[in-house]
Amino acid sequence: MDHIQIKDHTFLISTKDTSYMFRVNKYGHLEHLHYGGKITMEDVDALSYKKYILNGMTVAYDRKDDAYSLDSLPQEYASYGTGDFNEASIEIDSGESFTCDFTFDAYDLVEGNVPIKGLPSSYGAEQTLIIHMKDKVNGLKLDLYYAVYPEENVIGRRAVLTNGSGKAYTLHKLMSYCVDLIEDDLVLMDFSGAWDKEMHPNDRKLTQGTCVISSRTGFSSNKNNPGFIIKKSNTREDTGKAWGFNLVYSGNHYSSINKNEYALHRIQGGISPERFYLKLKAGDSFETPEAVMTYSGNGLNKLSQNFHAFINEHIVRSDWKKKERPVLINSWEGFGFKFKKDDLINKLAKNAVKLGMELFVLDDGWFGRRNDDKRGLGDYDCNLKKIPGGISSLSEEIHKLGMLFGIWVEPEAINIDSKLYEKHPEYALTESDREMLFGRNELLMDLTNPDVRDYIVENVSKLIDDNDVDYIKWDMNRHMNAVSGTYNHEYIKGLYDVLDRIFTPRPHVLLESCSSGGNRFDLGMLCYSPQIWASDDTDAIERIDIQKGLSYLYPLSSIGAHVSASPHMQTLRKTPLETRFNISAYGCLGYELDLSLLSPIDKAEIKRQISYYKKHRKTFQYGTFYRIDEEEPYEVFQASGAETILTKFRRIVHAVPVYDKLYVRGLDEDKTYDIESKPYLHNLRQFGHLVNFVSPVKINGEGHLMTAVSKLKGMEASFQEYTASGAALKEGICLNPLFMGTGYNDKIRIPLDYGSDMYEIKEHE
Ligand code: DGJ
Repeated sequence: MDHIQIKDHTFLISTKDTSYMFRVNKYGHLEHLHYGGKITMEDVDALSYKKYILNGMTVAYDRKDDAYSLDSLPQEYASYGTGDFNEASIEIDSGESFTCDFTFDAYDLVEGNVPIKGLPSSYGAEQTLIIHMKDKVNGLKLDLYYAVYPEENVIGRRAVLTNGSGKAYTLHKLMSYCVDLIEDDLVLMDFSGAWDKEMHPNDRKLTQGTCVISSRTGFSSNKNNPGFIIKKSNTREDTGKAWGFNLVYSGNHYSSINKNEYALHRIQGGISPERFYLKLKAGDSFETPEAVMTYSGNGLNKLSQNFHAFINEHIVRSDWKKKERPVLINSWEGFGFKFKKDDLINKLAKNAVKLGMELFVLDDGWFGRRNDDKRGLGDYDCNLKKIPGGISSLSEEIHKLGMLFGIWVEPEAINIDSKLYEKHPEYALTESDREMLFGRNELLMDLTNPDVRDYIVENVSKLIDDNDVDYIKWDMNRHMNAVSGTYNHEYIKGLYDVLDRIFTPRPHVLLESCSSGGNRFDLGMLCYSPQIWASDDTDAIERIDIQKGLSYLYPLSSIGAHVSASPHMQTLRKTPLETRFNISAYGCLGYELDLSLLSPIDKAEIKRQISYYKKHRKTFQYGTFYRIDEEEPYEVFQASGAETILTKFRRIVHAVPVYDKLYVRGLDEDKTYDIESKPYLHNLRQFGHLVNFVSPVKINGEGHLMTAVSKLKGMEASFQEYTASGAALKEGICLNPLFMGTGYNDKIRIPLDYGSDMYEIKEHE
């Protein structure tokens, strides 16, 4: 089937489960007709917006036509000055006027994609439709691109503006896309947060006016992710309509939903127009970054699954595309800046390899005078006091142990206490007539300067090549301050250029992007780094929210998730080791703690966890992911591949628990399934003096004996087995009872605050 059909100036873009339709109307304007479930070309008139008379103050487009106004017409791209008072997609100033009136000129249909100059974008599209538009008065030309990904139900959008007039213009705003939805009762679900609190879903009912999601920090930011969802107010995980939007871009972004008095919702997004301006000389063009959009008529899970499949197939590159990611050990939370090579080898690497970890990552602190976060950034010389023999000797030893070797860098930043700053103060991004403003004691480097880009490319490439580096963690730890015009955009293009030059020729290197955690979790970065460190908040309970938020827009194979020490360094919360693993398993698993401080029993548990993870890694990283709608105290994650792995995370335990059921999605209702809980140990210390209910001798629950025994022994959690049809599992089967303080046997489940149960569900043989 042709996924882009064109008939009588009507354009129908079809994916497996969605349709997108617009037409050229009698005035040459592009009238948006439909974005949603499947329809056909024959539906064009039925779907079109009916208007036979204009209301009160409406400005008519043509004085001979009293039924046509752009103010109420759903459009493909909106401009200002022709009677449309909703938010415009373009703002361009001739010095005298902002008015534009783009009408259809011609179209092209090309196979595959048309790449964007200097910006990453999706690849592997089946076809791209290009609509050429022209303003007959001012000579500006506007091209709208639609790339179709039928299998994943995604459409890529972008715009290119060319100054075809004889004079210069100032461009203030050029959105990547505009979608005018005629639907009411819509809710905006955006993903907002902060450092240590990324990607918290936030629902806002859309009322008349404009809702904006944006970033002014220079980067896609942890404050507002560029991705968002529009849904009907009754949409749930498995039912209802939802539209998803995201940008393949890492700089300042802006998305707005403008609801007018007729409940027309104009949704658009792109580079932030705030303080953005560009002189567009005669003949110049400006290309927006790409936006991607999807639709689901079956709830949010399906919308997320569309995005997950799309990102794995059409965004992620390198040898790591669709490849299982290694289990890593990272030095940061265990050692910070204080380490010696012996610690790295004896405390971390040797233990890690015994437990089954596959990749050793040396984090911050290995170069220059970097013994704290005040100095050293910009330098690449290894601190030989910490690592005698240098990085190559460490890498060699790690490789000899049978692990991959990875290292941390922060190439976009510079400390003024560094050799690089002494030599090249002009590399730093500052305002010449004002005091320098620092973030985490650092300045950004001026990535619009080709010398700076060359410096980074040379040093990071050399670091990789001279030391046989298999993995890079690319960090960036401050906001970009006081920039205007196109500086931020040029910086981001500079960053992409640097990443391209380093990593495209080295596709074997696994790049994990990081920006104080998830401050730059976006599709632009995912074009270079197959995975991104989700958050510096590694508290397992907080991670449920962060990873759940991410899962709406990004696949699990892109989410870096680590088990860290308990009590947690930020929340001081004690969380069972089991739950710390269970949440990290829904992503790219790593460990980030001093392994030499673990008890023998915890080491044995971690070994068991890693072997379980490896057995099911494909499902955890690439399975079809579902969030199951359940009430407090539960959050439920499900990943389905060759088998299904479902985890019920519990927050607070109640003395009288409600019936606890297991609901599973996506199974064959006619088949029978075996369900088994993942075995694990309870730490004896958490029972304290309660052990005296079973101990023949009286024991001090807080005493030395208890401490010593609990390092060697644990209590096996109750093992659960069930058999049920796919139909029963969809309805929900009853689980074994939870402990209520009135007795215990091997069928009773001990819940615990912040406990969790992981289940494997396989077809019955
Ligand atoms: C911020 C990152 O998010 C952390 O994981 C760690 O790499 C530190 N920077 C190191 O300075």
